[in-house]
Amino acid sequence: MVHNLKTSYSVIKDLSKIKADALGILLFKDEELPKELEGLDKELSGELRNLLNAKDFGGEEGKSVTIYALSKPFKRVIAVGGGDLKNASAETLRVYAATVIQKAKDLGLTKVALYVRTVESIEARESFKAVAEGASLANYVWGRKKELKQVEDIELVGIDDTVLINEVLKEVDVVKEAIYLSRDLANAPAAEINPETFEKLVKEAFKDLPVKIRVLHNKDLVKEGLNGIIAVGKGSEIPPRLLIIEYRGAGVGTPWIALVGKGVCFDAGGLDLKSASAMFDMKFDKSGAAYAVGVAYAAAKLGLKVNLVALAPLVENLPSGKSYKPLDIIKMYNGLTVEVHNTDAEGRLILADSLAYASKNYKPSVMIDMATLTGSVIVALGNQAAGLFTNDEELKQALMKASEKTGERLWPFPIWKEYYEDIKSDFADVKNLGVARAAGAIIGGVFLSKFVDEGIKWAHLDIAGVSNTQEEGPKKPYYLKGATGFGVRLILQYLRNSLNN
Ligand code: BES
Ligand code: ZN
Ligand code: ZN
Repeated sequence: MVHNLKTSYSVIKDLSKIKADALGILLFKDEELPKELEGLDKELSGELRNLLNAKDFGGEEGKSVTIYALSKPFKRVIAVGGGDLKNASAETLRVYAATVIQKAKDLGLTKVALYVRTVESIEARESFKAVAEGASLANYVWGRKKELKQVEDIELVGIDDTVLINEVLKEVDVVKEAIYLSRDLANAPAAEINPETFEKLVKEAFKDLPVKIRVLHNKDLVKEGLNGIIAVGKGSEIPPRLLIIEYRGAGVGTPWIALVGKGVCFDAGGLDLKSASAMFDMKFDKSGAAYAVGVAYAAAKLGLKVNLVALAPLVENLPSGKSYKPLDIIKMYNGLTVEVHNTDAEGRLILADSLAYASKNYKPSVMIDMATLTGSVIVALGNQAAGLFTNDEELKQALMKASEKTGERLWPFPIWKEYYEDIKSDFADVKNLGVARAAGAIIGGVFLSKFVDEGIKWAHLDIAGVSNTQEEGPKKPYYLKGATGFGVRLILQYLRNSLNN
């Protein structure tokens, strides 16, 4: 599953040494041509200066042009506009690098040089990391598109701190692998990936990593009383399971951090069947699980000094004679009973059991779940951010901070106690639905909170709007059509930040 198509990186200080099919450069609005690009401008008979003044480019954000110079060793210059220099961030650099790689892929080029511009407001390490990250993420291909050539060689130009470069490239390469794995798992259609093959592929991907993988199958689920997972999985021929990846990177005295990812390999809605159009992209309903797996992969491969446990409840939510049914009452892992008001609100049932299981068996200090939980979060935020729901202010701040760094946007929602009225049931402790369509995303978060043990800092990320891009979706040149891998870099950043505290 992990793409073994290796991109090789090399680093060049001197522009005149470049040998590539194209050289990417970043230019800002209303700026003088930067000194370091003067040599290049001369070779192009002043065309870079002209470009900065051209009305149809002018360094505007989102614009890019290709200048052909086939007699030169760099053959083409792909100039990307960065907008206002004073607003430049790591995201500007990520987008720049990704734009160049996308263009190069479109043109069928295999060797690309990327100029790493130093921007005053961003540390050298950050700048370099953002460029390498943007390039790697944009270089992903999947399915038929594999026929398209990936860029094979990427030269990073303009920096010469080899220690820094090696460190950053090593890290970015692992993050790239983790995100490619995450995207592969999320992109695969239901005919290919189901609870059984998901388990198999994960075991394969982790075979050389220092983790312990546990899987709770039928009998274990029954024995443990993970009845939420059992109920949702009943309609499928392929039995559900709970996949658990334990990575101990810190001492035994250090508490676990638990990650839980929704792994509905296909969500037809169950007996409350979805319409054709709503069902269309439900192969992506396993994105939370796929992305949690990606985080565990990177943490283990990077040797982060954390104890991380990733839990992925894996099911298919299908209609059949065996499916769970409306008004069934399920006794969940933590003893609470749930009255099923809609079999399409299945994600919260499998997550609830997983959150309760992680709470009891791992007693984590922090627990974060990622789930394509509600259409409602898309109504609220569109495709630009994931919804953030948490019981802890400090965790909220920490996640927001990480999110700013990685460009994966989060937006907080309240889970006020009044909302709990909405999930009251006459015949069970709670129901899996709110009142009509009010506050759908919040009700999802409110429901989940009932399954998190007291004292555990917990956050729920509703990634329904950002897990994949179709015609809509978060439009970034480092996201290709399909699975984004949203959240992998964010959680890794959060883990890294918490290590430094
Ligand atoms: N997997 C869906 C949520 C979803 C919708 C993800 C659109 C991505 C795009 C989830 O299981 C679901 O069906 N949720 C229902 C909940 C409702 C029945 C309370 C929804 O959002 O409509
Ligand atoms: Zn559903
Ligand atoms: Zn679902």
